[in-house]
Amino acid sequence: MARVLSGIQPSGDLHLGNYFGAVRNWVNDQTTKDAFFCVVDLHALTNTPDPEELRRQSIQLTSLLLAAGIDPLQSTLFLQSHVPSHQQLAWILECTATYGELRRMTQFKDKGGDQETVRVGLFTYPVLMASDILLYQADEVPVGDDQRQHLELTRELAQRFNNRYGQIFKVPNATIPAVGARVMDLQHPERKMSKSVASPLGTIGLLDAPSEIEKKVKKAVTDTDDMVRFDPQLKPGIANLLSLLAAATDGDPKVLADSYQRYGDLKRDTSEALVAILTPLQERYEEFQRDPAQVLAILKLGAEKARSVAEVTYASAADAVGLIAP
Ligand code: TRP
Repeated sequence: MARVLSGIQPSGDLHLGNYFGAVRNWVNDQTTKDAFFCVVDLHALTNTPDPEELRRQSIQLTSLLLAAGIDPLQSTLFLQSHVPSHQQLAWILECTATYGELRRMTQFKDKGGDQETVRVGLFTYPVLMASDILLYQADEVPVGDDQRQHLELTRELAQRFNNRYGQIFKVPNATIPAVGARVMDLQHPERKMSKSVASPLGTIGLLDAPSEIEKKVKKAVTDTDDMVRFDPQLKPGIANLLSLLAAATDGDPKVLADSYQRYGDLKRDTSEALVAILTPLQERYEEFQRDPAQVLAILKLGAEKARSVAEVTYASAADAVGLIAP
């Protein structure tokens, strides 16, 4: 069985882009693959969040993943900081990576990599991510486009380490989800729906009330030629609504386009379909919110399972470089 691993930061609320682009695929993967899902709270520290806020977000994200269908009996769902091997292996990998290759990471450059005050944690961020992946000997890592460069680095570090010290790490592959919509911002349909760009009307959160969802879809930017056609280049707003409707109803956006004449009808059906998906998810989320002890117990179980794998890999990497076992 192929092993799949992915990570997600507990920062900012999850939106439909995260759900249709990633989380829903994770839920599907867990039945056919050996799945590890990591809430990367250590990575979130690079944003220097308020401590209470980080705690809240970590529990909220875990609850949302559970509500979205991640099954803790099928998948290993855990908090990164609960498995100390992540930080231990990261050091060894920092002694494998070079200054030049980390300095060239576009995400680091975008986040102010040329400034004296940039945190070292932002610089070494991709090495910690490599550690997350390599500890589990993952075959597949589903990531979005923005993380591909980090995954390339992970592969490079694994190969470099293996060449020097012997076959310790599996070299993982990035996977593009087989199904999954690229969800665009409802107000700026030429760019991805994103939690890092503030666009309150353009982003539908997984916890948005039905009335908010309806309002946002109604106000979604379209065009003026009043023809429903799936054409992401020329008609990005309409194409995005069709993609959302298709994602929510397991349909095909091109086929769906044929059954609509009016933008208003498309918008009505799209918001109804989204509400139909999100309402049960929100109900399950509320149950977890009412029972934080259950969420913590799930994380404890996940951490135990994760540690049993991660510690074995860490021990062989530590041994390979010449560290004496305690
Ligand atoms: N860097 C990823 C992001 O911001 C999150 C992440 C951390 C991750 N560790 C990972 C993704 C390991 C996949 C595998 O989206």
